[in-house]
Amino acid sequence: QPEQLEHWDKEYVWHPFTQMREYRKEKPLIVERGEGSYLFDVEGNKYLDGISSLWVTVHGHGKEAINRAIIEQLDKVAHSTLLGEANIPSILLAKKLVEITPPGLDYVFYSESGSTAVEIALKIAYQYWQQQGDEKYKSKRKFVSLVNAYHGDTIGSVSVGGIDLFHKIFSHLLFETLSVPAPYCYRCPLDLSKDTCSMQCVGEMEILLARHHREIAGVIVEPLVQGAAGMIVAPEGYLGKVRELCTKYNILLIADEVAVGFGRTGKLFACEHENVKPDLMCLAKGITGGYLPLAATMATGEIYNAFLGGIEECKTFYHGHTYTGNPLGCAAALANLELFEKDKLIETLEEKISFLTHGLERFKELKHVGDVRQKGMMVGIELVENKETKEPFPVRANIPHRVILEARKNGLIIRPLGNVIVLMPILSMSLSELKDVLDITCAAIKKVTEGEA
Ligand code: LLP
Repeated sequence: QPEQLEHWDKEYVWHPFTQMREYRKEKPLIVERGEGSYLFDVEGNKYLDGISSLWVTVHGHGKEAINRAIIEQLDKVAHSTLLGEANIPSILLAKKLVEITPPGLDYVFYSESGSTAVEIALKIAYQYWQQQGDEKYKSKRKFVSLVNAYHGDTIGSVSVGGIDLFHKIFSHLLFETLSVPAPYCYRCPLDLSKDTCSMQCVGEMEILLARHHREIAGVIVEPLVQGAAGMIVAPEGYLGKVRELCTKYNILLIADEVAVGFGRTGKLFACEHENVKPDLMCLAKGITGGYLPLAATMATGEIYNAFLGGIEECKTFYHGHTYTGNPLGCAAALANLELFEKDKLIETLEEKISFLTHGLERFKELKHVGDVRQKGMMVGIELVENKETKEPFPVRANIPHRVILEARKNGLIIRPLGNVIVLMPILSMSLSELKDVLDITCAAIKKVTEGEA
């Protein structure tokens, strides 16, 4: 049967972000079930889930309380629409989200994925300015985004994206955005060193905002960590400064917490680290603990109020996906959030985060590791051919892919982003499981890049 599945997988499935010609040459990993920190394939092999199933799993796989919440909801109703109607779990979850997110975010607009949460934030921000009484705000139609940014794969979210490999080919389809350098300190876009840096990248943003604020609707950022760019960690204070600038120039701040939200950075939301209150916040991935597709775009009362009016005024937000506010997803999210409290998950993270920090020290000594970045439970290990010149390995050598195949052989699932090996352990992992994640990754990098075990 595994052979049959492999055959059908290669015959019928087009995998995302995957070069299918290469994929079809290799033996695929076909997952059959999950338990705690582990996934099991169809042959019964056991793997640690080192990327939380693409950054979503929070309390582990097969968590009884979440499974039960979904089943209980399923016994009531699987789906009913939110377009002009309500359902119980979506009401309870919205109340909860308003309570736990940064102050000021008082309204919840649901959708199903991070990309749609971002699309919605962009459209709300755009329409918000168009509906201001004052004519002078009608020109606020552009968005500012960062180089290397990743906000999803739909056309709007790609428009505010900044990863050439993914986004450049679509350039003619995208709306125009203003782009500013990102705080990628290992390869500083402004060529500054630790000694000469005083966050001039924020200065660049200020120059742009000062010049163009009359045309700018919003600035969108991934708070603290640019995830898909390779876990690029912003220097302390960066996010707070961006908030100050947005306030100063009357521009909406959109915080895309799709990757960093729900505990990943060591606090429930990354914005909390710098006491930042965004105007719009995008949530997805960890919101259901990794069980069902659900997303939310949170907005301030001021934004919400700008959409109120008589029917003839046409101020309605004409947007809504069919599965918006799906009761099963909302029930899973409620159970996920209850577990955060019951297991005191955030409190348990501190020890795990320092364990990782300590364990990552030895990676820095490796001959082909140029930079090791960590924020909370998010880790990026940037591989280079030459540490002095920071020259990357040639793409053809396929080093990162070989590293993850080696790790897989030893019972760990990880996934690279370009030249960066990503570790995104499940938040509920034990210290000994985290140790295995580090040990297997270190050995795999050594074996592939230095040819030794
Ligand atoms: N915003 C951020 C900050 C994200 O990291 C993501 C997805 C999204 C939005 C979109 O959420 P979605 O529509 O997928 O639910 N493609 C890369 C990794 C991207 C990780 C997913 N992030 C890869 O090849 O591994």
